[in-house]
Amino acid sequence: MKIGILTGGGDCPGLNAVIRAIVKKGDKYGFDILGIRSGWQGMIQGKIEPITINSVHGILPRGGTIIGTSRTNPFKKEEYVQKTFDNYKRFGIDAIIAIGGEDTLGVANKLNKMGLNIVGIPKTIDNDLACTDYTFGFDTAVTIATEAIDRLHTTAESHDRIMVLEVMGRHTGWIATIAGLAGGADCILIPEKPFNIDDICMLIKRRHEKGKSFSIVVVAEGVKPEEGTGFVVQDEKVDAFGHIRLGGISHTIAKEIEKKTGYETRVTILGHIQRGGTPTPFDRVLATRFGVAAVDLVKNGDFGKMVSLQGNKIVTVNLEEAVSALKTVDLSLFEIAEVFFG
Ligand code: F6P
Repeated sequence: MKIGILTGGGDCPGLNAVIRAIVKKGDKYGFDILGIRSGWQGMIQGKIEPITINSVHGILPRGGTIIGTSRTNPFKKEEYVQKTFDNYKRFGIDAIIAIGGEDTLGVANKLNKMGLNIVGIPKTIDNDLACTDYTFGFDTAVTIATEAIDRLHTTAESHDRIMVLEVMGRHTGWIATIAGLAGGADCILIPEKPFNIDDICMLIKRRHEKGKSFSIVVVAEGVKPEEGTGFVVQDEKVDAFGHIRLGGISHTIAKEIEKKTGYETRVTILGHIQRGGTPTPFDRVLATRFGVAAVDLVKNGDFGKMVSLQGNKIVTVNLEEAVSALKTVDLSLFEIAEVFFG
């Protein structure tokens, strides 16, 4: 049995842990594992090479992915889909394990319906995939963002400043909500709840009138203002899946806060620091459990499925269902964060 594995979309801590788990579990069954280079791009271009037990030595704690990643979408051109099928056959692949978020697994689902044997593993720092309580990568990103909030607190307090911290989260505010809760943010803005700049400024002013000299505002990069307030995203470049490159809305927000409250305001954009480096123990273990479970799905011929974490159990869900809707922030959880606003 030959299993091809690929990592697609933005990288995240834990990808190497999952690759290692697949290779080691596959070895127990006598399967050959092929690394497909740079996500779906490797299937289109035939960049596919064996991964041996030796090549996964020491990679468990390493960030990134040893097989590379990209945001290539084979459905951009008909010939790409044909090439994907040709290479599947040419390299003698019996099944693919696709490790990715909504885009990569959306492609996996379509190709599976067209006849390829595919199993999915959910990863993304954004934690926005449906049908799984957590994706790996998220816990590491939250840990990094929480540390950033802690560090911003001390400097904000020393200088009597407002600190605006922008974290990732294109469609959902999971990192902002959980890191904001953990770090004691005074206000959190998420894409699920369009913001009103006047309300935020009022909240900050009230906090300062009560004697506080600083505030921490956590902003998810994908936040949207309420209709008609004239805020814009900075960059209009789009990727192969049509997503606008985000990052920078916090500058506009910070300028408005400074103007409307009169308090000195600074911005920190955490950016790709949230995605780099070593995974937390939680992410290493989750990625490992997912990898082992995915190999079992392949062994059982259970294709068109995704492994997922529900409660503390690894279960199997339909890929179709997992990619059909995003998992947005649980608003009852956000209400808990709101208790500490202002
Ligand atoms: O999809 C994960 C993610 O980290 C998003 O939160 C973010 O918008 C995006 O990737 C940025 O990715 P890149 O700069 O690598 O295209």
